[in-house]
Amino acid sequence: MANTMAEIKNKMRVEGLDLYYGKFHALTSVSMPVQENKITALIGPSGCGKSTLLRCLNRMNDLIPGTKVTGQVMLDDQDIYGQAMEVTDLRKRVGMVFQRPNPFPLSIYENVVYGLKVAGFRNRKMMDEVAERSLKGAWMWDYVKDKLDQSALELPLDQQQRLCIARLLAIEPEVILMDEPCSALDPIATMKVEELMLELAKNYTIVIVTHNMQQASRVSDYTGYMLLGKMIEFNDTRVIFTKPKEKLTEEYISGKYG
Ligand SMILES: Nc1ncnc2c1ncn2[C@@H]1O[C@H](COP(=O)(O)OP(=O)(O)O)[C@@H](O)[C@H]1O
Ligand SMILES: [Mg+2]
Repeated sequence: MANTMAEIKNKMRVEGLDLYYGKFHALTSVSMPVQENKITALIGPSGCGKSTLLRCLNRMNDLIPGTKVTGQVMLDDQDIYGQAMEVTDLRKRVGMVFQRPNPFPLSIYENVVYGLKVAGFRNRKMMDEVAERSLKGAWMWDYVKDKLDQSALELPLDQQQRLCIARLLAIEPEVILMDEPCSALDPIATMKVEELMLELAKNYTIVIVTHNMQQASRVSDYTGYMLLGKMIEFNDTRVIFTKPKEKLTEEYISGKYG
């Protein structure tokens, strides 16, 4: 922890966020910082709004009909719900990894360079370089370098999840959102993905949703505890897991419910 407080920068900031799915009030006045090059974890019982809040950070909720959002989500100095924000640009800057790996039914190589191709790039040499760099970044280059033309769907699950991370890295996001990225993985694969997250945090800002409190305490710098759509407590991970300020947090982390 060489950082002093003064050097820590808010990469994103959620301020007074409310979200409705139709009439259902799913997030109530949620505020939290997302600090640059740190890992922020969202924990809480199933249905408390973790995934909903995560999706607000790159406006994935826009895709769900009947959703209404008020409040602010700042990315650097810009409100991502403001007029000036281009959503496709936002989703490049704030990318997402899902619960189940979702590689496309294409080769490993084509998966990684997919975003570049969609963006119109055709230069093979440049794409080869990006593919190598991204696969190295996701710690799978050595494993796949001799079989880049193989179908991504033939990879083991944890490699599929890394490939999804590599696919994100190829478009050089600033923030990576992960929604229970290890829930389909066994403990060893989980450990490897956690190590990768710690490495990625050197260059990226990460927000992870997890139902696994041990995971939150192992990998994250900050933790937000949510309950029934509210942010009950947001604090240093160590504080949340050792001496939380709120009684509700303490009840949850000591396993009284959830
Ligand atoms: N697309 C949706 N339409 C209506 N309600 C939803 C939708 N997605 C989630 N919800 C509801 O919003 C609440 C929060 O869900 P979610 O964010 O998925 O919680 P978590 O990720 O913490 O399990 C739950 O009550 C859930 O049923
Ligand atoms: Mg969820």
